[in-house]
Amino acid sequence: MTEVLGRRIESHVIELGAGTGAVTRQLIRNGVEPGKLTLVEIDARLGGHLRRRFPDTDVLIGSAEDLAKVWQERNGENVGAIISTLPMRLFSKKLIYLVMKNSLQVLDEGGMFVQFTYRQTSPVPPRVVNALRLKAWRYTRVWLNLPPAAIWVYERMPQPREI
Ligand SMILES: C[S@@+](CC[C@H](N)C(=O)[O-])C[C@H]1O[C@@H](n2cnc3c(N)ncnc32)[C@H](O)[C@@H]1O
Repeated sequence: MTEVLGRRIESHVIELGAGTGAVTRQLIRNGVEPGKLTLVEIDARLGGHLRRRFPDTDVLIGSAEDLAKVWQERNGENVGAIISTLPMRLFSKKLIYLVMKNSLQVLDEGGMFVQFTYRQTSPVPPRVVNALRLKAWRYTRVWLNLPPAAIWVYERMPQPREI
């Protein structure tokens, strides 16, 4: 997941649905600075566990669909990347739309949203991709994962150039 981010791992990174911290651990191992990493987790018990396990990260106990408001209240600067292991396939289309819309509001211009999924098709439905003018592409399949998983990337569609 960090490979696709390129130099964005040097910017502030937000992880959505950090859970027990398995992905967090890999993010840090692969170069994301704990001091520039915000973990968002809805479950307060897991949030407490994350705070103890990663004391140098910023743990936000709350919902991914409220991210933009909470981020604004904290005067957070826009970030280069959002990594998500949220269970999108259990979410309604409306909830996915809200998560993506909020994420776009905190991502900087060239920012990237990266989603880990067990689905082989895009976990963000085409209607949401089109409504938010996103470019969606599958970065890779993770065959070693059981069941096999995939990593999808969502970016803002480039603006058409003036002629
Ligand atoms: C598939 S698990 C993530 C696993 C995680 N990467 C780990 O290493 O444990 C999904 C996580 O997303 C959290 N979650 C579900 N809905 C959420 C929401 N709306 N906002 C934030 N976190 C949410 C769940 O509580 C759960 O911890």
